[in-house]
Order: sequence, then C-alpha cells, then structure tokens
Amino acid sequence: MAHIFPNMRMRRLRSNPGVRDLLQETEISLKDLIYPIFVEEEIDDFAPVESMPGIYRIPERKLDVAMKEIAAAGIRAIMTFGVSHHKDEIGSDTWNRDGLMARMIKRAKDAAPEVVLFSDTCFCEYTTHGHCGVIHDGDVHNDHSIENLGRQAVVAAEAGADVIAPSAMMDGQIAAIRSALDGSGHVNTPIMSYSSKFASAYYGPFRAAAGCDLDGDRKAYQMNPMNGREALRESDLDEAEGADMLMVKPGLPYLDVLTKIRQRSLLPLGVYQVSGEYAMIKFAAQAGAIDEVRVVRETLGAFKRAGADLILTYFAMDIARQGF
Ligand code: PBG
Ligand code: ZN
Repeated sequence: MAHIFPNMRMRRLRSNPGVRDLLQETEISLKDLIYPIFVEEEIDDFAPVESMPGIYRIPERKLDVAMKEIAAAGIRAIMTFGVSHHKDEIGSDTWNRDGLMARMIKRAKDAAPEVVLFSDTCFCEYTTHGHCGVIHDGDVHNDHSIENLGRQAVVAAEAGADVIAPSAMMDGQIAAIRSALDGSGHVNTPIMSYSSKFASAYYGPFRAAAGCDLDGDRKAYQMNPMNGREALRESDLDEAEGADMLMVKPGLPYLDVLTKIRQRSLLPLGVYQVSGEYAMIKFAAQAGAIDEVRVVRETLGAFKRAGADLILTYFAMDIARQGF
C-alpha cells in the first residue's frame, strides 16, 4: 500500500500557501450573488430594519440613488420586494400598472439597466391579511391565486423585470405564469421558481423588513421543514411546468435538499440565505462571538460546494464593498 502514510501525506498540499490557493476547489464571485432589496413607497428616509443590522428599507423616491450605489459596488443582480401602503384583500396593487411593483421595477432598471432584476412574485407584501394569495372561506384559494400571479408577472415583465421569481408556493404557478408571459409576448422572460420553499421560522426578520404581518401561518402552502423527498417532488414538478431555474429556501438548514436537487436536475440552481440566517450571523458577530467575514465566506462556500449556481444573500453589499 504505497498510498497511505507515511508515503502519502495530505499536509504536502497544505503547507505551501501558493499551492493551497491553486488547489482551492470553490470560488465565490460577485457574479453569483443576488442582493434582495426592500423598497417602500411614501417615505423620505432610509429606514433601518432593526432585526437585520445593515439592511434598510429604501424609499421609493431614492431608489435611483440606491441603485447607482449598488451597481457601482459591483452587484450584478437584485431581487425586489415592495413595502406597500396600498394593501387590499387580494394584493391587486401588484398588477396595477401604476402600482408600487411596476414603479419600483421601472425606476430600478432606469437607474441601473445593467443590474439584472429578479422580481419576487407573490402577494403577501400587498395583502391586508399577509397571505400569499386570495382567501376563500378561510383558505388560500390555489387556482384563483395562480391566475393573479400570471397578471402580476405580465405587469412586472412589462415594467422591465429581467426574471420572474414566484415565491407563493401555489400548485401550478409556474405553468400559469409561463402561459401568461407567453400570451403577452414575453416569451424570453425566464422564471426562477422558489421551487423548494419551506414554512420556516428563519423568515422572522423578513416579515418586519417587508412589513407583512401575517394572520396565522403558511403551512397550508409552504413545505413542512421535516420533509426532504417532498422538496424533490416540488422541484421536479416546477421543472416539468417550465421553470428555467430552481431554488431552495432557506439555505443552510437545507443543504441536503440543495445537493440532491443538484444531482437530479440540469437546471441552474439558486439558494436563498434568508433573513434569519443573516440575522444570526450579524448578531453573533456583534456580540464578538464569531468573525463575520470568515463565517460568511465559509457559509457561502458551503452553498457552492452543495451545488448552488446562484446565491441570494443580504451580505452581497458587504461582500461587494469589502470582499472576503
Ligand atoms: C414571501 C417571501 C418571504 C421571503 C421571501 N419571499 C417570506 C415568507 O414566505 O414568509 C423570506 C425571505 C427572508 O426571510 O429573507 N413570499
Ligand atoms: Zn408570499
């Protein structure tokens, strides 16, 4: 056995820093990152999100300034979330051509056309009850909600969204959106599905950031965190319905799901490091318990190793500014 100790020594490849660098398997690049942003209408100043240190709700009026900074920092892609002051029972502001969603997409693309815009496609930030669709008899009505998702997607595409990213976890939403987009001439607008999205406690800080307080929970449409096989079925179905990209959300607690989807699908695959994952790192670093920059690098490295092509992360701006 020539190739075990003492003939084989793994440390040979680790002792020289130059060799170590050459052999690094995983790289994290700004071009793989998507920066989620919150845009609020009718406010004048940037509003800090207390549960997410370093994250602000951007006033719609200053979105052009913010987008120029984001682009100048080297960010290549954003995901937009609206903080609405015009909520109703069904979230109709999302398919209003003069509503917040359409306006923020236009303003962001006018200010920084080169930054790829993913439009989060859902209703919870625009409904009074905070659910991701239309309520009928106390339950979110699937088929009516996907029809409305189609309308929203068309308005977002018309406004200039580069990618439609449905996050409502309604059955058939990808097929409904694809047919609405194709029917309105947007045949080249891709869909990134939040295909395996769990009913997660890690979304806590997001609800404050996006101003969507919820009556009850989303367990009737988002997945049970204890289920892995179901997550694979969800991504298979979305692929069959015509999704162009898949996504797993949250990230770190679901690396097993990410790896398995990577092995069974050839589609580009994203992962969403969600608000709670961000907050845990930020607050632990603030307490002096961990080194933030190294922990972020290690965590995003885990996403890449597990098979993610794209990473949605609130750390994107920090990384763009200071690197690793
Ligand atoms: C809404 C939506 C949520 C997130 C993204 N889109 C919240 C939820 O489903 O409750 C969470 C993002 C985060 O926590 O960072 N459909
Ligand atoms: Zn939603």
